[in-house]
Amino acid sequence: MIKVCLIPGDGVGNEVIPAAAEVLAALGLRIEFTEAHAGFEYFKQSGDAIPDATLAAVEDCGVALFGATSSPSTKVQGYRSPILALRKAFDLYANLRPVQSLPGKFSRPNLDLLIVRENTEGLYAGRERLDGDTAIAERVITRQGSTRIAKMAFEQARKRNQHSVTVVHKANVLKVTDGLFRECALEVAKDYPEITMKEMLVDAMAMRLVRDPENFDVLVTTNLFGDILSDEASALIGGLGVAPSANIGEKVAVFEPVHGSAPDIAGQGVANPIGAILSAALLLDHIGQGAQADRVRQAVNETVKQSVLTKDLGGTATTRDVTRCIVSNL
Ligand code: IPM
Ligand code: MN
Repeated sequence: MIKVCLIPGDGVGNEVIPAAAEVLAALGLRIEFTEAHAGFEYFKQSGDAIPDATLAAVEDCGVALFGATSSPSTKVQGYRSPILALRKAFDLYANLRPVQSLPGKFSRPNLDLLIVRENTEGLYAGRERLDGDTAIAERVITRQGSTRIAKMAFEQARKRNQHSVTVVHKANVLKVTDGLFRECALEVAKDYPEITMKEMLVDAMAMRLVRDPENFDVLVTTNLFGDILSDEASALIGGLGVAPSANIGEKVAVFEPVHGSAPDIAGQGVANPIGAILSAALLLDHIGQGAQADRVRQAVNETVKQSVLTKDLGGTATTRDVTRCIVSNL
């Protein structure tokens, strides 16, 4: 029996996670779903953004599908971002964000990129403080954290039969922190002689992602750069609505669409479920069900070819229409 924890969260999370669960359920595997709470709505009712019961459910299942939550940009006493809490609680150190072409006019062709984002340190370490009128954020880069994310990137390149890993940094300015990140990647690269290690400054990378993204395979970078570059890269294939991600740790993994809770369209039934459904495919890859994952990806591709598309991709289909079409294409 495969156990999957579902955490819809806020806004469109409540629309796209049921859609992804429906696709998983349609595969004919034996899957048991456990639903768990997290998010700002739940916080307003209970005073807790992500209760211990949710952490326990994720731990018990080993894999979770997370929708999105609405985190306010100003400090709310007692609130913590549930996804950051999950990454921290289970040391989900690797955020894998594939960017693969879809067979629609809205997507560039011939893209098969993987952004490997360090997910636990960097500017997300949570070390921010106010010192009078000066606000300071510490950017924490460790040898251990940099080495394990570089290994993950090279292992992924090997698994995907790709030729290069590009280390993205800003070591010309951040000589100490990104200097260490770069040095660790160079060291790890020695164990993978068949893979070429390239390096690129993050500003140049942002430009190259627009200009010639097809020339890259696996990118590996620090937390904030990975966050920004992955949103940018999603625009190459249709935008945030179609971008999936995987947060991987030693024992637990959490899969989430890259998009947020989208309060502007929440409740209308028009959110694009593809990001969540492709995240479910990454979940299947992770638990050794690669063939089922490919079935899901093919069904998504077929649906796109049939032009059953939500508004964000230029169509008029609803979340339900797209989900039903994907299920029937399985
Ligand atoms: C993402 C999101 C999160 C992040 C937010 C919601 C904390 O933008 O998964 O990319 O910045 O990591
Ligand atoms: Mn983001």
